[in-house]
Amino acid sequence: MSALDGRAQTVRIALVMVGLPARGKTHMARRVARYLRWLGVRTRVFNVGNYRRQEIGSHQPAAFFDPDNPEGKAARRRMAMRALDDMLEWFASGGEVGLYDATNTTRARRETIAARVRAHGLEIVFVESVCEDERVIESNIRQTKLHMPDYAGVASDAAVADFRARIAHYERAYEPVQEDEGSFVRVIDVGRKLVAHRIQGYLPSRLVYFLMNLHVEPRSIWLTRHGQSTFNVEDRVGGDPPLSPAGRAFAASLAAHVRASGVTPRVWTSTLARTRETAAPLGLPSEEWRALDEIDAGDCDELTYADIRSRMPAEHAARRDNKLTYRYPRGESYLDVIRRLEPVILELERERRPVLVIAHQAVLRALYAYLMDRAPDEVPYLPVPLHTVIELTPITYGCEERRVPLEPGPA
Ligand code: SIN
Repeated sequence: MSALDGRAQTVRIALVMVGLPARGKTHMARRVARYLRWLGVRTRVFNVGNYRRQEIGSHQPAAFFDPDNPEGKAARRRMAMRALDDMLEWFASGGEVGLYDATNTTRARRETIAARVRAHGLEIVFVESVCEDERVIESNIRQTKLHMPDYAGVASDAAVADFRARIAHYERAYEPVQEDEGSFVRVIDVGRKLVAHRIQGYLPSRLVYFLMNLHVEPRSIWLTRHGQSTFNVEDRVGGDPPLSPAGRAFAASLAAHVRASGVTPRVWTSTLARTRETAAPLGLPSEEWRALDEIDAGDCDELTYADIRSRMPAEHAARRDNKLTYRYPRGESYLDVIRRLEPVILELERERRPVLVIAHQAVLRALYAYLMDRAPDEVPYLPVPLHTVIELTPITYGCEERRVPLEPGPA
């Protein structure tokens, strides 16, 4: 069963990237993969450039990519087919969404891929990235391409010149995807414009929405739990308690920390008093999200963990045995929390300003897993302590993390 939507039938889709080098294809493929994996879809990226680097070495001059260089052309085709074979084998062993990350700039190459993908009973959607904004291309070359193993030890001006020559070779052979090739999404200038052709079904439609919101502007995302609440002191779950004195002191430290950082973030809280009280000293406008409320403990709400263990031993044991899928009686499971956080994720992707999320342990575990590309089954165990700000800053294809414990520590 697909974890994405709970339907009995499995989704099996090959998302085939298309576009000239330095058009953000790898960034897009990785972000889509991270999103789908977080939703529980078995997803993998197959990057043809990595096959080339592993099999024939990283240092190939621009001439290797010349469409009139027969050896280069044959080698590139061999690598592309190797990656495709691996992807098809992976689908046969239960893969659900495979991202085939390569330039795929000629119609002939795409036809070969599509024929093989369809012969395996899979759907295919091309995801073409077109970028006309010279600044985005330049920044992509400088921020990602120069750090590739292809240019290790090469002076940056020489590397940029070589990479531009590589792009020029691809440009000569480039044929944009045509409507008669099947389903495609064309993303122009990283989301400025998006064309969706013959996109049907639940997952591809969701993908279009995700791609529409994606951008590449770096901005930090800070996560913190509310300050200690009176229920934290009593080891009680759920409820809507106020902050304890230590919790209020943390809220003051958080406000001082944010002010000292010089960053004015958008502030998101849950609808519960403890997160709103934590945000108050910041003196910034904040937005309340019901989707950020703590996991609903149902019949266990307001009990202590010791109460649950003694009064509901079967529930206690079931939760201990599978914390991801365990659902509190008349409450929620971690999986439910992940699903209800999807609008928050999409808004986080869309937002270009820094965001400070003040929420709860289960919810922040799920958000952290998304941002750091951690598997759903790790979510219930990820450490998200009280009175600690987790500062995440996007780097090339992921996030850099800094944890800042603030005084006072939890009692
Ligand atoms: C590469 O070898 O770096 C990319 C191959 C391709 O997709 O054209």
